[in-house]
Amino acid sequence: MSSVIPFVDLRAQYHSIKSEIDAAILGVLESCQFTLGSEVAKFEEEFAAYQQSKFGAGVNTGTSALHLALLAANIGAGDEVITVPFTFVASVAAIYYTGAKAVFVDIDPKTFTMDPARIEAAITPRTKAILPVHLYGQPADMDPIMAIARKHNLIVVEDACQAHGAEYKGRRVGSIGDFGAFSFYPGKNLGAYGEGGFVTTQNPEFNRTVRMLRDWGAEKKYQHVLKGYNYRLEGIQGAVLRVKLKYLEKWTEGRRTAAAHYDRLLAGSGVPTPYAAPHARHVYHIYAVRTTQRAAWQEALNTKGVQTGIHYPIPVHLLPAYADLGYEAGDFPHSEAAANEVLSLPMFPEITAAQCEAVAKAVREQASSGTGIPSKVKAAR
Ligand SMILES: Cc1ncc(COP(=O)(O)O)c(C=O)c1O
Repeated sequence: MSSVIPFVDLRAQYHSIKSEIDAAILGVLESCQFTLGSEVAKFEEEFAAYQQSKFGAGVNTGTSALHLALLAANIGAGDEVITVPFTFVASVAAIYYTGAKAVFVDIDPKTFTMDPARIEAAITPRTKAILPVHLYGQPADMDPIMAIARKHNLIVVEDACQAHGAEYKGRRVGSIGDFGAFSFYPGKNLGAYGEGGFVTTQNPEFNRTVRMLRDWGAEKKYQHVLKGYNYRLEGIQGAVLRVKLKYLEKWTEGRRTAAAHYDRLLAGSGVPTPYAAPHARHVYHIYAVRTTQRAAWQEALNTKGVQTGIHYPIPVHLLPAYADLGYEAGDFPHSEAAANEVLSLPMFPEITAAQCEAVAKAVREQASSGTGIPSKVKAAR
């Protein structure tokens, strides 16, 4: 193979919109609205509308978005929040920031998202919220999650940090629960040129509280009515995100086309490819296959110039940082198996059909020996 196929290619995207981005950044330098300001305000309207939400607030990270959503729902010490262990650590860290405790339920191994059938057994008198994660860009199964939440009077915070533009039964994520939390970390489907995050909600009171909390709990300057934070979104990020939002649909279709190429090129190889639920518009932040020989596959692919990633190698209940929760290996078998087996292939909007072919060829070469195909999958074929 002549050249390396990167896991993501942020430079290609920048160069495709360079003149607009440069002008947008220069505009902020001229206006000197470096934090919040008019670009952020316009972006808030545009992105909230894009996510089919009435309200939206820009914040400094996706983690802060989760934190403020939980705080606005009045969650704190003594409360429990149900989430999944197969996620990026931030989903759980944000729960801890509030003083509440995370209670895990396992994932559905097909979709990698929260298994709704396991939620009710995890509810206690202290449970205040459910935090499903739309992992890899696939929406969690929101109808049963919302039905359980309403029955037990629980708040739902959607972790949509990987799922900009994803849809569940035609509804955009972040508009279904009480809150949606988004990340604009540079590698995300909509990425800032620095850090950024966003809280969506349909509820004006929640929106008001989030907006106060992100800016020192102030209703007006120096009128601090809540104990707040400095979680403001920067003006330059607002301006960059406004430019990039115009291209997001096109980029999402680029990802979906690449995923369709991979699906087709890997069909019949025995390699488990991502399952997209019929109710989902999967936006493929990550395209992960599964293998029991991950280290060997990753090394072999790397030698052939194919860069890969692992999202995520250790489920949160087995991370040393959360050992105090008292969970053990074996507690969440589907999350643990996924963490051991997932391998993320190159995925970015600009990836070409030829690059997908080269990646798939390298994967098929690994699979052809028969080692590395998860046994359940082997048996099912
Ligand atoms: C599922 C998930 N939740 C939360 C976050 C936190 O977002 P951020 O890195 O912007 O704080 C991320 C991304 O990093 C994520 O992937």
